[in-house]
Amino acid sequence: MVLVTGATGLLGRVIVLELVKRGEKVRACKRPDSDLSDVQKSYEYYTSNADYFFDLIEWVDLDFNQHQSLYTALKDITDVYHCAAKISFDPQDKDEVLETGIVCTRNLLRACRYMPVKKFLFVSSAATLRVNKNGLESQINGNHSVKTYSPYVISKYIAEKMVLSAYKKGLNAVIINPAMIIGIGNQKKNDSHLLEIFKTNRITFPGGTSCIDVRDVAKIAISLLEKNIFGERFSLSAENVPYKDLACQIRNIEGLKKPILFKKRILKVMQYFRPILKLVDGNARFLTDENIEFICDHQYHSNKKIKNTIPCSFYSLAESIRFYYGNYMIDKSE
Ligand SMILES: NC(=O)c1ccc[n+]([C@@H]2O[C@H](COP(=O)([O-])OP(=O)(O)OC[C@H]3O[C@@H](n4cnc5c(N)ncnc54)[C@H](OP(=O)(O)O)[C@@H]3O)[C@@H](O)[C@H]2O)c1
Repeated sequence: MVLVTGATGLLGRVIVLELVKRGEKVRACKRPDSDLSDVQKSYEYYTSNADYFFDLIEWVDLDFNQHQSLYTALKDITDVYHCAAKISFDPQDKDEVLETGIVCTRNLLRACRYMPVKKFLFVSSAATLRVNKNGLESQINGNHSVKTYSPYVISKYIAEKMVLSAYKKGLNAVIINPAMIIGIGNQKKNDSHLLEIFKTNRITFPGGTSCIDVRDVAKIAISLLEKNIFGERFSLSAENVPYKDLACQIRNIEGLKKPILFKKRILKVMQYFRPILKLVDGNARFLTDENIEFICDHQYHSNKKIKNTIPCSFYSLAESIRFYYGNYMIDKSE
């Protein structure tokens, strides 16, 4: 039986769906106030048998800080997909981001030691990888300067170390590092998601990112465990795009005016006036050093390693955006 944490999230729900479609028995972790109706509704965009597949899922409330809850969730589980995380670049969420990323992962790994878990996949982030001038990727260095990296990146960096340590002690573990994931999920909860920001604000930034469709991430994750590939880290991306082009594509689909590029020096000036700006626009709180560095940086990741390891194909960015906006965003505006 398979356990998926963060199963109500953008990625977790699609991994769950893909597994049940393949006939796997899946236990999906949620929290008492998770929105299951949103998960069920979004399945309609991924399959014509949404209700049938949804009903095959065994949902369990998981509290990572309760031993009993962890052991109940892990009973009879052989494979774990650990997707749960608090994704936020809001300084106010720092403690929750670190707690979910580090403490929850540590507790889960500890519990796995005492249970019959055979395979473990950890979903990290491409944000823990840096690309040099020659296009080579390496992990960020261990100097956790909070001015350089956001709490989210630090939490993933530390969690990856814990997963690799568990691997060295005998757990069959593998790590994936997806770039920005595009799919139909619960972004409506997350107004700091760049796709939301570009839609609701006429702004864009000097940097760029890699993107990947959620359906591709789910298939690759499952394939890695099926093929017993462990002890490795895989950067997952389909296409690289400057933020200004991404914002243009999104605003174009929505029939909105072209975005305005906020250069780094403008962002720095705004950061200086942040205490005043915060009074008129709550979004000014996001103007931290590490967030400005992030959105002004071009971090383009490579999918060469995963392509050399397993057969995989990718949706284009245009297809992913059409899928996302053609379905979910229409619903949201109703
Ligand atoms: N989205 C991206 O662009 C992206 C890119 C790279 C990597 N990732 C990684 O991919 C994974 C999945 O991301 P996502 O986009 O699916 O995120 P998401 O949509 O925000 O979902 C997060 C999931 O984690 C659960 N969760 C959050 N805090 C929790 C806690 N304290 N205890 C238990 N469950 C908790 C949420 O449950 P509730 O429904 O109850 O809130 C939800 O199921 C994460 O590890 C993320 O870091 C995401």
